[in-house]
Amino acid sequence: KNISVIGAPLDMGGVRQGSRFAPDTLRLLGLIDKIKRLGLDIDRDFNLDVKNGYKLEKSEDNLNHLDMILEQLDILFESVKNQMEEGRLPLVIGGDHTTVLGTMKGVLNNYPNAGLIYFDAHADINTTETSPSGNIHGMPIAALIGMGDERLKAVGGNLTLNPENIVYVGLRDLDNGEKEILKENNIKCYTIADIDQLGMGRVMDEALEYLKNTDGVHVSFDVDCLDPIFAPGTGIHLFGGLNFREARLGLEKCHASGKVLSLEFVELNPLLDYDNKTAELLIELICAGLGEVRL
Ligand code: ARG
Ligand code: MN
Ligand code: MN
Ligand code: MN
Repeated sequence: KNISVIGAPLDMGGVRQGSRFAPDTLRLLGLIDKIKRLGLDIDRDFNLDVKNGYKLEKSEDNLNHLDMILEQLDILFESVKNQMEEGRLPLVIGGDHTTVLGTMKGVLNNYPNAGLIYFDAHADINTTETSPSGNIHGMPIAALIGMGDERLKAVGGNLTLNPENIVYVGLRDLDNGEKEILKENNIKCYTIADIDQLGMGRVMDEALEYLKNTDGVHVSFDVDCLDPIFAPGTGIHLFGGLNFREARLGLEKCHASGKVLSLEFVELNPLLDYDNKTAELLIELICAGLGEVRL
């Protein structure tokens, strides 16, 4: 399939702004060329025309910058939906992780029984009631499964993601309310401890087996699943994340399954990076997700 690179430079949903610069940073560091050298065709390569502002303090309704984010997500949803309808594989570059609400709705529009593989330190499954921060990048999965604020749920229409079609990989920081939601909805979770115990290879084999009856999978990758030693260029730093090889294997296994419908890489913040280290690492990971193989 030919690829559509969709830059989604929206960063009103995160903690520290700056991920709006990620799509162009990755391009300037050679992402597009590197993908082409894999023998893949890029049919489209553009940034969405989304409006950002500057973060203010926490809003009273615990939904920081909701209106701006809703506008951004509509634009993203339409784009992913259209690119898929035209037969291309969307490669979405965030932006903060609110993106997954627009992207996944676009995927569900084409494949109502699609699955989601979510590489993240976080579950991003807070509602307005459970969120400690009011930051909407911590809420997209709740909205996708039909929980939380009506306006977020309504992004891209009424389609919902079946909680049984989700697999988390790499969790290491959950809020108490999120733990309950994960449990109540019986959502498949592989924590960092599970990866320590089983190894990334086994975890991915199980995850893909678990999703085998879906229409295919959307892969959503948050840079903060990585250890900050490897990936300082992101808004939240927590010890004990994935190393480069584990993340790489995870993405290689996704590709090798033949089930990938679309890919998304988010929360790279070039303003927090050192010497473009995180950005360069992410380019390698994107290529792994697109099928680049090692020796
Ligand atoms: N759980 C925290 C919150 O709701 C952190 C979420 C971090 N999400 C992310 N996409 N990096 O604020
Ligand atoms: Mn996330
Ligand atoms: Mn995260
Ligand atoms: Mn579990």
